[in-house]
Amino acid sequence: MRFSEKTALITGAAVGIGRACAILFAREGANVVLIDLDKEKLAATEAEIRQYTDKVLSFECNVTDEPRVYEVVSEAEKIFGGIDILVNNAAIWRLWSSFTETSTDDWRKYLDINIMGVVYFTKAVLPKMLENSYGRIINVASVAGVYGNANMVHYSATKGALISMTKALAKEVSSKGVLVNSVSPGSVSPSDCLDIDHTIESDLSFMGRTGSDRENAELICFLASDAASYISGQNIQIDGCRKKQ
Ligand SMILES: NC(=O)c1ccc[n+]([C@@H]2O[C@H](COP(=O)([O-])OP(=O)(O)OC[C@H]3O[C@@H](n4cnc5c(N)ncnc54)[C@H](O)[C@@H]3O)[C@@H](O)[C@H]2O)c1
Repeated sequence: MRFSEKTALITGAAVGIGRACAILFAREGANVVLIDLDKEKLAATEAEIRQYTDKVLSFECNVTDEPRVYEVVSEAEKIFGGIDILVNNAAIWRLWSSFTETSTDDWRKYLDINIMGVVYFTKAVLPKMLENSYGRIINVASVAGVYGNANMVHYSATKGALISMTKALAKEVSSKGVLVNSVSPGSVSPSDCLDIDHTIESDLSFMGRTGSDRENAELICFLASDAASYISGQNIQIDGCRKKQ
């Protein structure tokens, strides 16, 4: 089991890529800490994970609520003894609007959730990771942050920031045992069952299809594992060979 004795905290764990990651970590022996806003879907994911392990905690938490972020991290650390792996996955992305039509309030919301949420969770777990000389931080970015998506300038900007945050932070902490990487998915189709990949045709990739939650979760788990012990400061695209828009 790749993650026995390890604790992984995943934000946005109720659905999609976050949920798939949480299930994979749990299947491979990790204690898992699930964070999400959506109480009902979080409870459903926790129940699913309890088929594999009882070492699971879930917290209803808005990643923009800094005091609450510290509270849940400290609670999880008390129970599991520390956080070894942080997956900053929670984000919003479903607003398609031209730059001129995107309100300042929407910009603030995107910056708050997609960037500050990552800053708060990273600040909350990093001191103990440095103390233990061990940590893995994986930020879920997007191809939008690499190429830029029209009508998603707000979203693209947050994911571009996340990619550069990843590279910059890696330079500060890699020598101290904390490895920091990001993954940039292309188009992903959610699936109700981790073991059945759901994908659809897509002309945005040379593979001609979307990716699945499981494929993304496998990459994140690889980066969190000891097999990836010489990888830090990287942004890895998982996009079926994206046609650059
Ligand atoms: N799905 C895609 O096609 C795609 C493509 C590229 C990148 N991504 C990135 O992958 C990640 C996961 O996306 P997805 O589509 O699998 O999931 P999703 O967007 O369907 O769900 C995200 C989860 O995050 C939670 N969340 C949102 N705001 C939150 C907040 N303020 N506090 C706490 N939880 C919050 C939601 O409740 C939800 O459970 C995101 O970072 C997204 O930007 C997704």
